[in-house]
Parts: sequence; C-alpha cells; structure tokens
Amino acid sequence: MMWKEFQSAKAPRNKHSEELSVKNCGLAELAHISGQLLSKLGNVEFLKTGKAACSPVVAFTQEIIRSPRQAGAICPSGTALSDAMAREAVAGDGLVVELGAGTGAVTKALLKRGIAPENIVAVEQSAHLANFLRNRFPRVKVVQEDASRLSELFYGKAIDSVVSSLPLVSLPPDMRESIMRQIRRLAAGKRLIQFTYFWGDSYLTESGFKLLHTKTVFKNFPPARVMTFEI
Ligand SMILES: C[S@@+](CC[C@H](N)C(=O)[O-])C[C@H]1O[C@@H](n2cnc3c(N)ncnc32)[C@H](O)[C@@H]1O
Repeated sequence: MMWKEFQSAKAPRNKHSEELSVKNCGLAELAHISGQLLSKLGNVEFLKTGKAACSPVVAFTQEIIRSPRQAGAICPSGTALSDAMAREAVAGDGLVVELGAGTGAVTKALLKRGIAPENIVAVEQSAHLANFLRNRFPRVKVVQEDASRLSELFYGKAIDSVVSSLPLVSLPPDMRESIMRQIRRLAAGKRLIQFTYFWGDSYLTESGFKLLHTKTVFKNFPPARVMTFEI
C-alpha cells in the first residue's frame, strides 16, 4: 500500500481477516477453540465508545494465538517501557515512524509525550491489530504493512525517529537485514529506538548502527532493554 492510499485508508471491515490461522500448530484444535473464545471476548465493548472495542491484552492474546512468532512477546509493552521508548524519540517537523505498533502502548506514550498524532505513522503487519489501532487512535496514521516494505511506504518522506517494537530476534534473518538496510537508507543520521527482551549483543550494533545508550526497564513483564541508536 503506497503513501497516498494509506492516508485515505479506512479500517477494513472484512470478517475473513479476523479468521484464525492456527493450522500449523501442534495443538491446533485447542488453540482454535481458545481463539474462538478470545475472539468473542474481543468483541465485548469494555468502553462505551460507540465503536467495537476490546482491551489491549485481549487483542494481543488473540494475536499470539493467530501468529505467535510474529507477535514476539507474551503481552503488550507496559507503561514504563513505552514511556522509556517515547522519551528517546526526537520529534520535529518530520515523521515518527513506529514499527510493530501492536496494540498501541508505545503509540499512546508518544502521544502523551506531546508528539502530534498527524506526525506518527504506526506500521503493523497484523490486520487484526491494525484495526484495533485505528479504533484506538483515529488521528494516527495506521499502515497495515510488513516493515520489510518501508522503502515503498516512506520514500521521500522526512523521518525524525524510528521507534521499533519489532521482534528482531524472531524475524527471519533475511527480513531483519532488509528492514535494517531500509531504515539506514530512509533515516540516516536520525534516531532508532528499539526495545528487546534479548540480553545478548544486539543485531543492530553488529549491523553498524551507533549505540548511544541503553536503559533497562525492570518495571515491565518481562524486564526489557530500550536501546537508542544513531542510524
Ligand atoms: C512485541 S509486539 C508489539 C508490542 C507493542 N509495543 C504493544 O504494546 O502492543 C511486536 C509487534 O510487531 C508486529 N510485527 C512483527 N513482524 C512485523 C513486520 N515484519 N512488520 C510489521 N509488524 C510486525 C507484530 O504483529 C506485533 O504486533
């Protein structure tokens, strides 16, 4: 989906995008039943917003059942972690690009920090979570796309910061390398903020991103590291 298209994109109402894909799971049947149950829960209106709404935890749990490898976590990022990431973002007239926005914990922290919703673009590959994000943040641009298509999405756009919750460790190495190459091309000299539950060396330092600092957030489940790089 190109820039102009996603600017005018509306939340898809396709029921099929809500279907579960648990065929490859050993416990497929159990997962299917749990998924159906959670799917029902997901349609409960917790808030009287007039829109179909569900809690971030339920939305994220549904996603784990659909696609555990891509979800890359066992629950949404906590407030302390999200705030720590948002604090590191540099914002000017350009865009703050959020990768793997999930249920929007970091999006919320970026807004709380005072970044204008029009300057935030949330990229999320899951149709289910992209819909959730659109309902939760109607003024933020939400792009349901794979982050490996960043160049097509952001060609010629000024980017101030890239804030990423992508599960880099569990992405296929080719895809990971491709995403990093594109980030380097699109936002050279700018900031990349990445959180990780992985305590080993970062792929990003090995790939030439300059580590500015790291912060460990113990007040998160599980504890996580926020790494700030110059691209
Ligand atoms: C750790 S979770 C996001 C946590 C998020 N901060 C939250 O609180 O919900 C990682 C997210 O990255 C998304 N993701 C994984 N691979 C992706 C890709 N190639 N392109 C875009 N999003 C991707 C997953 O769907 C998932 O929502």
